[in-house]
Amino acid sequence: MVFFKQNRKIQVEDILAKPLPQHIAIIMDGNGRWAQKKGLPRAAGHRAGVEALKRIVEFCGEINIPYLTVYAFSTENWKRPQEEIDTLMNLMVEYIQKEINILVKKGVRVNPIGNLEELPSFTYEYILKAATSTKNNDKLILNVALNYGGRREITRAVQNIARLVQSGEISLKQINEQLIAEHLYTKGQPDPDLMIRPSGEMRLSNFLLWQVAYTELWVTDIMWPDFKPEHLVEAIYEYQRRNRRYGGLNN
Ligand code: IPE
Ligand code: IPE
Ligand code: MG
Repeated sequence: MVFFKQNRKIQVEDILAKPLPQHIAIIMDGNGRWAQKKGLPRAAGHRAGVEALKRIVEFCGEINIPYLTVYAFSTENWKRPQEEIDTLMNLMVEYIQKEINILVKKGVRVNPIGNLEELPSFTYEYILKAATSTKNNDKLILNVALNYGGRREITRAVQNIARLVQSGEISLKQINEQLIAEHLYTKGQPDPDLMIRPSGEMRLSNFLLWQVAYTELWVTDIMWPDFKPEHLVEAIYEYQRRNRRYGGLNN
């Protein structure tokens, strides 16, 4: 595959020659605006967004990215009209129904993260089914953030840790960054190396607040339904040229 950047060819081989991000996080944004521009209902944008997700999951598998986290529905998205919420919840079920066999075969583990109990029961059931039937896969961990909020996740961790202190299982002194990380949904996973936000918005929108402390951000004006592997290649290409200092000095 050959992609072009400023008249220069970027080939998949170029990014494969350097260390790849081990964990990529994507805020799948811009579905509504994509549809609006085409004079289509917002639902059509969400449907096209699912196709973009399929392409990117497949491509991440091909280039051996071990962790991919996608933001599918935030704790704030309940503010949308009920009709749109219903569309999104139905689309998730449809995606699982259609894709589950492929995901199983391709070694993808579907790991839903977020406050899942608050989802409509049919969505909840399908999501759990997807998690169960892919639980032995380990080629690509696909964290699907559903009814996810970074603040909610941290609040939940604080509650669980406070419970442990209260019951005497741990002491206050044992609370450190590692313990907090172990109480997040992403427990045991590396923090994202790269976070991508399509649609040109430059905000985190309550996504992975703890985990992105040192993540490299990449924003593009492309709307999520138009997002293709070539854009991911471009993001990774730029990521590989960043100087990650972590507060230190250049080497
Ligand atoms: C992202 O696209 C999908 C979800 C938030 C569920 P949007 O629906 O936010 O699209 P825009 O931002 O209105 O274009
Ligand atoms: C973020 O997009 C949430 C998802 C993509 C699921 P939003 O469209 O909800 O974010 P804001 O409202 O622009 O911050
Ligand atoms: Mg949006």
